[in-house]
Amino acid sequence: MLDIPSGLNLSASKSLTPIKLGFLESWRLISLSYSDPLSQTQHLNQKYGNVVMQKVGNMEVVYLFGADANRLALLNPDNILSNKKAWDQIIGRLFPNGLMLRDAEDHRYHRRLMQAGFKSKAMQGYFSQMAPQIARAIAKWSPTVGSEKTLAYPMFKNTTLDLAATVFLGMDLGADARKINKAFESTVAASMWRFPFAFPGTLLWRGIRARKIMCNFFQPMIEERKAGEGQDLFSILCRAQDEDGNRYTDQEIVDHINFLMMAAHDTTTSALTSMTYALAKNPEWQERLWGEMLALEGKDLKPQDLSAMVETEYVMKEALRLYPPLSTLPKFSNKEFEFEGYTIPAEAMVITSPIHTHYSDRYWDDPKVFDPLRFGDARKEHKRNAYSWIPFSGGAHMCIGLHFAEMQIKLVIFEMLKNYRWSVPHDYEMPVQQSPISKPTDGLPITLIRR
Ligand code: HEM
Repeated sequence: MLDIPSGLNLSASKSLTPIKLGFLESWRLISLSYSDPLSQTQHLNQKYGNVVMQKVGNMEVVYLFGADANRLALLNPDNILSNKKAWDQIIGRLFPNGLMLRDAEDHRYHRRLMQAGFKSKAMQGYFSQMAPQIARAIAKWSPTVGSEKTLAYPMFKNTTLDLAATVFLGMDLGADARKINKAFESTVAASMWRFPFAFPGTLLWRGIRARKIMCNFFQPMIEERKAGEGQDLFSILCRAQDEDGNRYTDQEIVDHINFLMMAAHDTTTSALTSMTYALAKNPEWQERLWGEMLALEGKDLKPQDLSAMVETEYVMKEALRLYPPLSTLPKFSNKEFEFEGYTIPAEAMVITSPIHTHYSDRYWDDPKVFDPLRFGDARKEHKRNAYSWIPFSGGAHMCIGLHFAEMQIKLVIFEMLKNYRWSVPHDYEMPVQQSPISKPTDGLPITLIRR
Protein backbone atom coordinates (compact mmCIF):
# COMPACT_ATOMS: atom_id res chain seq x y z
CA MET A 1 0.00 0.00 0.00
CA LEU A 2 1.21 3.50 -0.72
CA ASP A 3 2.45 5.58 2.11
CA ILE A 4 1.51 9.12 1.18
CA PRO A 5 2.64 11.70 3.72
CA SER A 6 -0.18 13.75 5.14
CA GLY A 7 -0.11 17.42 4.32
CA LEU A 8 -3.11 17.67 2.09
CA ASN A 9 -5.28 20.41 3.48
CA LEU A 10 -8.81 19.86 2.35
CA SER A 11 -10.64 21.01 5.44
CA ALA A 12 -11.32 24.58 6.39
CA SER A 13 -10.07 26.82 3.62
CA LYS A 14 -11.66 24.93 0.75
CA SER A 15 -8.69 25.87 -1.39
CA LEU A 16 -6.62 22.93 -2.58
CA THR A 17 -3.09 22.29 -1.46
CA PRO A 18 -1.13 19.73 -3.42
CA ILE A 19 0.15 16.71 -1.56
CA LYS A 20 3.81 17.26 -0.83
CA LEU A 21 5.64 14.12 -1.86
CA GLY A 22 9.27 13.15 -2.02
CA PHE A 23 10.67 12.00 -5.36
CA LEU A 24 10.28 8.29 -4.58
CA GLU A 25 6.77 8.63 -3.20
CA SER A 26 5.76 10.70 -6.14
CA TRP A 27 7.24 8.17 -8.57
CA ARG A 28 5.43 5.31 -6.84
CA LEU A 29 2.14 7.16 -7.02
CA ILE A 30 2.56 7.93 -10.70
CA SER A 31 3.58 4.31 -11.42
CA LEU A 32 0.50 3.07 -9.62
CA SER A 33 -1.68 5.37 -11.71
CA TYR A 34 -0.45 3.39 -14.74
CA SER A 35 -0.28 -0.11 -13.29
CA ASP A 36 -3.19 -0.17 -10.84
CA PRO A 37 -5.44 2.90 -11.05
CA LEU A 38 -8.11 1.19 -8.93
CA SER A 39 -5.83 0.83 -5.90
CA GLN A 40 -4.38 4.27 -6.49
CA THR A 41 -7.74 6.04 -6.69
CA GLN A 42 -9.27 4.05 -3.82
CA HIS A 43 -6.31 4.94 -1.67
CA LEU A 44 -6.45 8.64 -2.53
CA ASN A 45 -10.21 8.81 -1.99
CA GLN A 46 -10.16 6.95 1.33
CA LYS A 47 -7.32 9.02 2.67
CA TYR A 48 -8.19 12.49 1.35
CA GLY A 49 -11.82 12.60 0.19
CA ASN A 50 -13.52 13.42 -3.09
CA VAL A 51 -11.17 16.20 -4.21
CA VAL A 52 -7.44 15.56 -4.19
CA MET A 53 -4.65 17.59 -5.78
CA GLN A 54 -1.20 16.30 -6.57
CA LYS A 55 1.68 18.13 -8.21
CA VAL A 56 3.35 16.11 -10.98
CA GLY A 57 6.35 18.05 -12.26
CA ASN A 58 4.96 21.47 -13.07
CA MET A 59 1.44 20.21 -13.51
CA GLU A 60 -1.39 20.22 -11.00
CA VAL A 61 -3.38 17.00 -11.19
CA VAL A 62 -6.79 17.06 -9.51
CA TYR A 63 -8.69 13.82 -8.86
CA LEU A 64 -12.46 14.18 -8.53
CA PHE A 65 -14.21 11.13 -7.07
CA GLY A 66 -17.81 9.93 -7.14
CA ALA A 67 -20.77 9.97 -9.50
CA ASP A 68 -21.39 13.71 -8.95
CA ALA A 69 -17.84 14.41 -10.08
CA ASN A 70 -18.42 12.26 -13.16
CA ARG A 71 -21.60 14.15 -13.93
CA LEU A 72 -19.84 17.53 -13.68
CA ALA A 73 -16.83 16.49 -15.74
CA LEU A 74 -18.84 14.78 -18.46
CA LEU A 75 -21.64 17.32 -18.79
CA ASN A 76 -18.97 20.01 -18.72
CA PRO A 77 -21.12 23.10 -18.11
CA ASP A 78 -19.78 26.36 -19.52
CA ASN A 79 -16.86 24.48 -21.13
CA ILE A 80 -14.94 24.43 -17.88
CA LEU A 81 -13.00 21.41 -19.12
CA SER A 82 -11.14 20.61 -22.30
CA ASN A 83 -10.78 17.12 -23.75
CA LYS A 84 -8.28 18.33 -26.31
CA LYS A 85 -5.81 19.86 -23.85
CA ALA A 86 -5.84 16.66 -21.79
CA TRP A 87 -5.68 14.03 -24.53
CA ASP A 88 -3.22 16.05 -26.65
CA GLN A 89 -0.69 15.64 -23.86
CA ILE A 90 -1.26 11.88 -23.73
CA ILE A 91 -1.86 10.69 -27.30
CA GLY A 92 -1.68 13.93 -29.30
CA ARG A 93 1.43 12.95 -31.24
CA LEU A 94 0.03 9.52 -32.03
CA PHE A 95 -3.63 10.21 -32.78
CA PRO A 96 -3.74 13.98 -33.43
CA ASN A 97 -7.13 15.54 -34.20
CA GLY A 98 -9.12 12.39 -33.42
CA LEU A 99 -12.72 13.16 -32.44
CA MET A 100 -11.94 12.72 -28.74
CA LEU A 101 -9.15 15.30 -29.06
CA ARG A 102 -11.47 18.14 -30.05
CA ASP A 103 -13.54 20.64 -28.07
CA ALA A 104 -16.72 22.69 -28.20
CA GLU A 105 -17.95 23.88 -31.64
CA ASP A 106 -15.09 22.23 -33.51
CA HIS A 107 -15.95 18.93 -31.79
CA ARG A 108 -19.67 19.33 -32.51
CA TYR A 109 -18.98 19.92 -36.21
CA HIS A 110 -16.72 16.86 -36.51
CA ARG A 111 -19.07 14.65 -34.50
CA ARG A 112 -22.07 15.68 -36.61
CA LEU A 113 -20.29 14.62 -39.79
CA MET A 114 -19.13 11.37 -38.19
CA GLN A 115 -22.70 10.45 -37.19
CA ALA A 116 -23.24 9.48 -40.83
CA GLY A 117 -21.18 6.37 -40.10
CA PHE A 118 -23.35 5.34 -37.14
CA LYS A 119 -26.89 5.84 -38.46
CA SER A 120 -29.18 2.83 -38.43
CA LYS A 121 -28.81 2.11 -42.17
CA ALA A 122 -25.02 2.08 -41.84
CA MET A 123 -25.27 -0.13 -38.74
CA GLN A 124 -27.45 -2.64 -40.57
CA GLY A 125 -24.83 -2.76 -43.32
CA TYR A 126 -22.09 -3.45 -40.74
CA PHE A 127 -24.23 -6.17 -39.19
CA SER A 128 -24.68 -8.02 -42.46
CA GLN A 129 -20.96 -7.78 -43.21
CA MET A 130 -19.84 -8.76 -39.74
CA ALA A 131 -22.20 -11.59 -38.84
CA PRO A 132 -20.99 -14.17 -41.41
CA GLN A 133 -17.35 -13.16 -40.96
CA ILE A 134 -17.57 -13.61 -37.20
CA ALA A 135 -19.31 -16.97 -37.62
CA ARG A 136 -16.57 -18.21 -39.98
CA ALA A 137 -13.70 -16.89 -37.88
CA ILE A 138 -14.93 -18.31 -34.59
CA ALA A 139 -15.88 -21.70 -35.99
CA LYS A 140 -12.25 -22.01 -37.14
CA TRP A 141 -10.71 -21.40 -33.71
CA SER A 142 -8.67 -24.40 -32.59
CA PRO A 143 -9.95 -26.04 -29.42
CA THR A 144 -7.40 -26.58 -26.67
CA VAL A 145 -5.29 -29.71 -27.02
CA GLY A 146 -4.16 -31.60 -23.90
CA SER A 147 -2.81 -29.37 -21.16
CA GLU A 148 -1.99 -26.53 -23.54
CA LYS A 149 -4.07 -23.39 -23.13
CA THR A 150 -5.65 -21.15 -25.72
CA LEU A 151 -4.84 -17.47 -25.33
CA ALA A 152 -8.10 -15.55 -25.60
CA TYR A 153 -6.78 -11.99 -25.82
CA PRO A 154 -4.66 -12.36 -28.99
CA MET A 155 -7.46 -14.36 -30.59
CA PHE A 156 -9.90 -11.47 -30.03
CA LYS A 157 -7.33 -8.96 -31.16
CA ASN A 158 -6.91 -10.74 -34.51
CA THR A 159 -10.64 -11.20 -34.94
CA THR A 160 -11.50 -7.57 -34.18
CA LEU A 161 -8.72 -6.32 -36.44
CA ASP A 162 -10.03 -8.42 -39.34
CA LEU A 163 -13.52 -7.10 -38.63
CA ALA A 164 -12.29 -3.51 -38.49
CA ALA A 165 -10.63 -4.03 -41.88
CA THR A 166 -13.89 -5.27 -43.40
CA VAL A 167 -16.34 -2.94 -41.75
CA PHE A 168 -14.23 0.18 -41.34
CA LEU A 169 -12.03 -0.05 -44.41
CA GLY A 170 -14.09 -2.25 -46.72
CA MET A 171 -11.14 -4.48 -47.51
CA ASP A 172 -9.31 -7.61 -46.56
CA LEU A 173 -5.94 -6.56 -45.17
CA GLY A 174 -4.39 -9.69 -46.64
CA ALA A 175 -0.60 -9.36 -46.82
CA ASP A 176 -0.76 -5.97 -45.06
CA ALA A 177 -2.40 -7.44 -41.94
CA ARG A 178 0.85 -8.02 -40.07
CA LYS A 179 2.25 -4.62 -40.93
CA ILE A 180 -0.95 -2.82 -39.89
CA ASN A 181 -1.39 -4.87 -36.74
CA LYS A 182 2.19 -4.09 -35.76
CA ALA A 183 1.70 -0.41 -36.48
CA PHE A 184 -1.40 -0.45 -34.23
CA GLU A 185 0.47 -2.17 -31.48
CA SER A 186 3.24 0.38 -31.64
CA THR A 187 0.97 3.44 -31.65
CA VAL A 188 -1.11 2.18 -28.73
CA ALA A 189 1.92 0.99 -26.77
CA ALA A 190 3.50 4.41 -27.30
CA SER A 191 0.63 6.07 -25.47
CA MET A 192 2.09 4.45 -22.33
CA TRP A 193 5.30 6.47 -22.75
CA ARG A 194 5.56 8.85 -19.82
CA PHE A 195 7.98 11.41 -21.22
CA PRO A 196 7.46 13.91 -24.03
CA PHE A 197 10.74 12.90 -25.74
CA ALA A 198 10.86 10.76 -28.85
CA PHE A 199 14.53 9.69 -28.94
CA PRO A 200 15.29 6.97 -31.51
CA GLY A 201 14.38 3.57 -30.13
CA THR A 202 11.91 4.84 -27.51
CA LEU A 203 8.29 3.70 -27.50
CA LEU A 204 7.13 7.17 -28.55
CA TRP A 205 9.57 7.27 -31.46
CA ARG A 206 8.35 3.86 -32.66
CA GLY A 207 4.73 4.96 -32.22
CA ILE A 208 5.24 8.12 -34.29
CA ARG A 209 6.88 6.06 -37.06
CA ALA A 210 4.03 3.57 -36.91
CA ARG A 211 1.54 6.42 -37.26
CA LYS A 212 3.25 7.42 -40.52
CA ILE A 213 2.81 3.85 -41.79
CA MET A 214 -0.90 4.04 -41.03
CA CYS A 215 -1.31 7.48 -42.68
CA ASN A 216 0.56 6.34 -45.79
CA PHE A 217 -1.67 3.28 -45.93
CA PHE A 218 -4.97 5.22 -45.80
CA GLN A 219 -4.09 8.38 -47.76
CA PRO A 220 -3.88 6.89 -51.29
CA MET A 221 -7.32 5.26 -50.97
CA ILE A 222 -9.27 8.47 -50.33
CA GLU A 223 -10.02 9.68 -53.87
CA GLU A 224 -11.40 6.31 -54.92
CA ARG A 225 -13.56 6.11 -51.77
CA LYS A 226 -15.01 9.56 -52.37
CA ALA A 227 -16.10 8.58 -55.87
CA GLY A 228 -17.35 5.09 -54.98
CA GLU A 229 -20.43 3.81 -53.20
CA GLY A 230 -18.74 1.75 -50.50
CA GLN A 231 -20.74 1.25 -47.32
CA ASP A 232 -17.73 0.81 -45.05
CA LEU A 233 -17.05 3.49 -42.42
CA PHE A 234 -14.01 4.89 -44.26
CA SER A 235 -16.01 5.38 -47.47
CA ILE A 236 -18.91 6.91 -45.52
CA LEU A 237 -16.53 9.40 -43.87
CA CYS A 238 -15.00 10.25 -47.26
CA ARG A 239 -18.44 11.20 -48.59
CA ALA A 240 -19.98 12.65 -45.40
CA GLN A 241 -21.25 16.22 -45.64
CA ASP A 242 -23.38 18.47 -43.48
CA GLU A 243 -26.43 20.51 -44.48
CA ASP A 244 -24.14 23.34 -45.68
CA GLY A 245 -22.14 20.98 -47.88
CA ASN A 246 -19.06 20.98 -45.60
CA ARG A 247 -16.88 17.87 -45.82
CA TYR A 248 -13.83 16.52 -44.04
CA THR A 249 -10.48 17.39 -45.64
CA ASP A 250 -8.31 14.44 -46.70
CA GLN A 251 -6.06 14.91 -43.67
CA GLU A 252 -9.10 14.97 -41.36
CA ILE A 253 -10.33 11.71 -42.89
CA VAL A 254 -6.96 10.07 -42.23
CA ASP A 255 -6.86 11.41 -38.66
CA HIS A 256 -10.40 10.20 -37.95
CA ILE A 257 -9.96 6.74 -39.40
CA ASN A 258 -6.67 6.30 -37.55
CA PHE A 259 -8.31 7.25 -34.28
CA LEU A 260 -11.45 5.20 -34.95
CA MET A 261 -9.49 2.05 -35.70
CA MET A 262 -7.68 2.41 -32.38
CA ALA A 263 -10.78 3.46 -30.41
CA ALA A 264 -12.79 0.51 -31.69
CA HIS A 265 -10.17 -2.20 -31.79
CA ASP A 266 -8.55 -2.22 -28.37
CA THR A 267 -11.63 -1.31 -26.37
CA THR A 268 -13.77 -4.05 -27.90
CA THR A 269 -10.95 -6.58 -27.56
CA SER A 270 -10.68 -5.59 -23.91
CA ALA A 271 -14.44 -5.94 -23.32
CA LEU A 272 -14.61 -9.35 -25.03
CA THR A 273 -11.67 -10.58 -23.00
CA SER A 274 -13.22 -9.54 -19.69
CA MET A 275 -16.54 -11.13 -20.64
CA THR A 276 -14.76 -14.35 -21.60
CA TYR A 277 -12.96 -14.35 -18.27
CA ALA A 278 -16.13 -13.63 -16.30
CA LEU A 279 -18.00 -16.40 -18.14
CA ALA A 280 -15.11 -18.83 -17.58
CA LYS A 281 -15.17 -18.11 -13.84
CA ASN A 282 -18.96 -18.42 -13.79
CA PRO A 283 -19.78 -21.33 -16.14
CA GLU A 284 -23.43 -21.31 -15.03
CA TRP A 285 -23.68 -17.97 -16.86
CA GLN A 286 -22.36 -19.54 -20.07
CA GLU A 287 -25.25 -22.00 -19.97
CA ARG A 288 -27.72 -19.30 -18.99
CA LEU A 289 -26.73 -17.10 -21.93
CA TRP A 290 -26.73 -20.05 -24.29
CA GLY A 291 -30.27 -20.77 -23.07
CA GLU A 292 -31.26 -17.20 -23.90
CA MET A 293 -29.77 -17.57 -27.35
CA LEU A 294 -31.48 -20.92 -28.00
CA ALA A 295 -34.76 -19.16 -27.42
CA LEU A 296 -34.06 -16.97 -30.46
CA GLU A 297 -35.34 -18.26 -33.77
CA GLY A 298 -32.78 -19.64 -36.16
CA LYS A 299 -29.15 -20.63 -35.83
CA ASP A 300 -27.83 -17.31 -37.09
CA LEU A 301 -28.46 -13.98 -35.42
CA LYS A 302 -30.63 -11.38 -37.11
CA PRO A 303 -30.44 -7.67 -36.25
CA GLN A 304 -33.76 -7.83 -34.41
CA ASP A 305 -32.41 -10.60 -32.13
CA LEU A 306 -29.92 -8.23 -30.53
CA SER A 307 -32.48 -6.50 -28.34
CA ALA A 308 -33.76 -9.88 -27.11
CA MET A 309 -30.30 -10.79 -25.77
CA VAL A 310 -31.11 -9.12 -22.48
CA GLU A 311 -28.99 -11.24 -20.14
CA THR A 312 -26.05 -11.11 -22.56
CA GLU A 313 -26.32 -7.37 -22.19
CA TYR A 314 -26.27 -7.63 -18.39
CA VAL A 315 -23.09 -9.72 -18.58
CA MET A 316 -21.52 -7.21 -20.95
CA LYS A 317 -22.43 -4.34 -18.64
CA GLU A 318 -21.11 -6.18 -15.60
CA ALA A 319 -17.81 -7.00 -17.34
CA LEU A 320 -17.47 -3.35 -18.37
CA ARG A 321 -18.19 -2.31 -14.78
CA LEU A 322 -15.51 -4.56 -13.34
CA TYR A 323 -12.99 -3.99 -16.14
CA PRO A 324 -13.72 -0.65 -17.83
CA PRO A 325 -11.38 -0.52 -20.86
CA LEU A 326 -10.62 3.12 -20.00
CA SER A 327 -10.17 3.17 -16.24
CA THR A 328 -9.68 6.93 -15.97
CA LEU A 329 -10.84 9.86 -18.07
CA PRO A 330 -8.54 12.87 -18.18
CA LYS A 331 -9.83 16.41 -18.82
CA PHE A 332 -8.00 19.75 -18.50
CA SER A 333 -9.48 22.79 -16.77
CA ASN A 334 -9.99 25.80 -19.04
CA LYS A 335 -10.92 27.94 -16.04
CA GLU A 336 -11.37 27.82 -12.28
CA PHE A 337 -14.48 26.01 -11.08
CA GLU A 338 -16.09 24.76 -7.88
CA PHE A 339 -16.76 21.19 -6.86
CA GLU A 340 -18.11 20.20 -3.45
CA GLY A 341 -16.98 23.52 -2.04
CA TYR A 342 -13.41 23.36 -3.36
CA THR A 343 -11.93 25.63 -5.97
CA ILE A 344 -10.35 23.65 -8.77
CA PRO A 345 -7.67 25.78 -10.43
CA ALA A 346 -7.45 26.59 -14.13
CA GLU A 347 -4.79 24.77 -16.19
CA ALA A 348 -4.97 21.58 -14.13
CA MET A 349 -5.28 18.00 -15.34
CA VAL A 350 -8.63 16.85 -13.94
CA ILE A 351 -9.06 13.09 -13.59
CA THR A 352 -12.38 11.35 -13.22
CA SER A 353 -12.25 7.66 -12.68
CA PRO A 354 -14.85 5.20 -14.01
CA ILE A 355 -13.08 2.30 -12.32
CA HIS A 356 -13.24 4.01 -8.93
CA THR A 357 -16.97 4.69 -9.18
CA HIS A 358 -17.62 1.20 -10.57
CA TYR A 359 -16.14 -0.31 -7.40
CA SER A 360 -17.73 2.09 -4.93
CA ASP A 361 -20.13 0.58 -2.40
CA ARG A 362 -21.97 3.90 -2.39
CA TYR A 363 -23.58 2.85 -5.67
CA TRP A 364 -23.26 -0.94 -5.88
CA ASP A 365 -24.06 -3.91 -3.64
CA ASP A 366 -20.92 -6.03 -3.17
CA PRO A 367 -19.08 -4.16 -5.91
CA LYS A 368 -16.25 -6.70 -6.22
CA VAL A 369 -18.66 -9.54 -7.02
CA PHE A 370 -19.59 -10.54 -10.59
CA ASP A 371 -23.38 -10.26 -10.48
CA PRO A 372 -24.96 -9.39 -13.87
CA LEU A 373 -28.49 -9.32 -12.45
CA ARG A 374 -27.67 -6.07 -10.66
CA PHE A 375 -28.49 -4.51 -14.07
CA GLY A 376 -31.83 -6.38 -14.28
CA ASP A 377 -35.24 -4.74 -13.92
CA ALA A 378 -35.70 -6.03 -10.39
CA ARG A 379 -32.60 -4.25 -9.06
CA LYS A 380 -31.38 -1.63 -11.52
CA GLU A 381 -28.39 -0.70 -9.41
CA HIS A 382 -27.01 1.39 -12.28
CA LYS A 383 -30.05 3.67 -12.01
CA ARG A 384 -29.22 4.70 -8.46
CA ASN A 385 -27.11 7.38 -10.04
CA ALA A 386 -26.94 8.00 -13.80
CA TYR A 387 -23.18 8.60 -13.56
CA SER A 388 -22.17 5.56 -11.52
CA TRP A 389 -21.69 3.36 -14.62
CA ILE A 390 -19.65 5.21 -17.25
CA PRO A 391 -17.52 2.77 -19.29
CA PHE A 392 -18.57 4.69 -22.41
CA SER A 393 -18.09 8.10 -20.75
CA GLY A 394 -21.01 10.55 -21.13
CA GLY A 395 -22.04 14.01 -22.29
CA ALA A 396 -20.73 15.45 -25.56
CA HIS A 397 -17.84 12.96 -25.78
CA MET A 398 -19.85 9.84 -24.98
CA CYS A 399 -18.53 6.98 -27.09
CA ILE A 400 -19.98 7.31 -30.58
CA GLY A 401 -19.36 3.60 -31.20
CA LEU A 402 -21.17 2.14 -28.21
CA HIS A 403 -23.99 0.54 -30.21
CA PHE A 404 -21.47 -0.74 -32.71
CA ALA A 405 -19.46 -2.26 -29.85
CA GLU A 406 -22.55 -3.86 -28.33
CA MET A 407 -23.55 -5.35 -31.69
CA GLN A 408 -20.10 -6.78 -32.29
CA ILE A 409 -19.82 -8.15 -28.75
CA LYS A 410 -23.21 -9.88 -28.96
CA LEU A 411 -22.34 -11.42 -32.33
CA VAL A 412 -19.01 -12.73 -31.03
CA ILE A 413 -20.39 -14.11 -27.76
CA PHE A 414 -23.27 -15.78 -29.63
CA GLU A 415 -20.85 -17.58 -31.98
CA MET A 416 -18.54 -18.52 -29.11
CA LEU A 417 -21.38 -20.08 -27.14
CA LYS A 418 -22.73 -21.81 -30.24
CA ASN A 419 -19.38 -23.50 -30.86
CA TYR A 420 -17.62 -23.85 -27.51
CA ARG A 421 -17.51 -24.07 -23.75
CA TRP A 422 -14.51 -22.56 -22.02
CA SER A 423 -12.99 -22.56 -18.56
CA VAL A 424 -10.12 -21.41 -16.35
CA PRO A 425 -8.78 -23.22 -13.26
CA HIS A 426 -10.73 -22.44 -10.05
CA ASP A 427 -7.88 -20.56 -8.48
CA TYR A 428 -6.99 -18.56 -11.58
CA GLU A 429 -7.30 -14.75 -11.30
CA MET A 430 -6.76 -12.74 -14.46
CA PRO A 431 -3.80 -10.35 -14.01
CA VAL A 432 -4.92 -7.04 -15.47
CA GLN A 433 -2.94 -4.08 -16.71
CA GLN A 434 -5.54 -1.34 -16.43
CA SER A 435 -3.82 1.42 -18.34
CA PRO A 436 -3.87 2.79 -21.04
CA ILE A 437 -6.54 0.26 -22.12
CA SER A 438 -7.36 -2.61 -19.79
CA LYS A 439 -5.91 -5.98 -20.85
CA PRO A 440 -4.70 -9.23 -19.26
CA THR A 441 -0.93 -9.35 -18.90
CA ASP A 442 -0.94 -13.12 -19.54
CA GLY A 443 -3.23 -13.07 -22.62
CA LEU A 444 -5.98 -14.92 -20.65
CA PRO A 445 -5.19 -18.65 -21.06
CA ILE A 446 -8.44 -20.65 -21.31
CA THR A 447 -9.37 -24.24 -22.01
CA LEU A 448 -11.61 -24.15 -25.07
CA ILE A 449 -13.64 -27.22 -25.97
CA ARG A 450 -16.19 -27.77 -28.72
CA ARG A 451 -19.81 -27.78 -27.57
C1 HEM B 1 -16.48 -1.71 -25.40
C2 HEM B 1 -16.05 -0.89 -26.31
C3 HEM B 1 -15.78 0.58 -26.11
C4 HEM B 1 -15.57 1.30 -24.98
C5 HEM B 1 -15.57 0.79 -23.54
C6 HEM B 1 -15.35 2.68 -25.37
C7 HEM B 1 -15.11 3.71 -24.47
C8 HEM B 1 -15.03 5.05 -24.85
C9 HEM B 1 -14.86 6.14 -23.93
C10 HEM B 1 -14.74 6.02 -22.43
C11 HEM B 1 -14.84 7.30 -24.66
C12 HEM B 1 -14.83 8.74 -24.18
C13 HEM B 1 -13.54 9.32 -23.68
C14 HEM B 1 -13.71 10.73 -23.17
O1 HEM B 1 -14.70 11.07 -22.50
O2 HEM B 1 -12.80 11.50 -23.39
C15 HEM B 1 -14.97 6.92 -26.03
C16 HEM B 1 -14.98 7.81 -27.08
C17 HEM B 1 -15.00 7.42 -28.39
N1 HEM B 1 -15.16 6.15 -28.89
FE1 HEM B 1 -15.42 4.47 -27.81
N2 HEM B 1 -15.43 2.75 -26.72
C18 HEM B 1 -15.70 1.51 -27.21
C19 HEM B 1 -15.87 1.16 -28.53
C20 HEM B 1 -15.81 2.03 -29.59
C21 HEM B 1 -16.05 1.67 -30.96
C22 HEM B 1 -16.43 0.27 -31.44
C23 HEM B 1 -15.86 2.81 -31.70
C24 HEM B 1 -16.00 3.01 -33.17
C25 HEM B 1 -16.69 2.23 -33.95
C26 HEM B 1 -15.53 3.88 -30.78
C27 HEM B 1 -15.26 5.18 -31.13
C28 HEM B 1 -15.12 6.22 -30.25
C29 HEM B 1 -14.94 7.61 -30.66
C30 HEM B 1 -14.85 8.13 -32.08
C31 HEM B 1 -14.87 8.36 -29.49
C32 HEM B 1 -14.72 9.86 -29.36
C33 HEM B 1 -16.10 10.46 -29.15
C34 HEM B 1 -16.08 11.96 -28.97
O3 HEM B 1 -15.11 12.49 -28.44
O4 HEM B 1 -17.06 12.58 -29.37
N3 HEM B 1 -15.51 3.36 -29.51
N4 HEM B 1 -15.10 5.54 -26.13
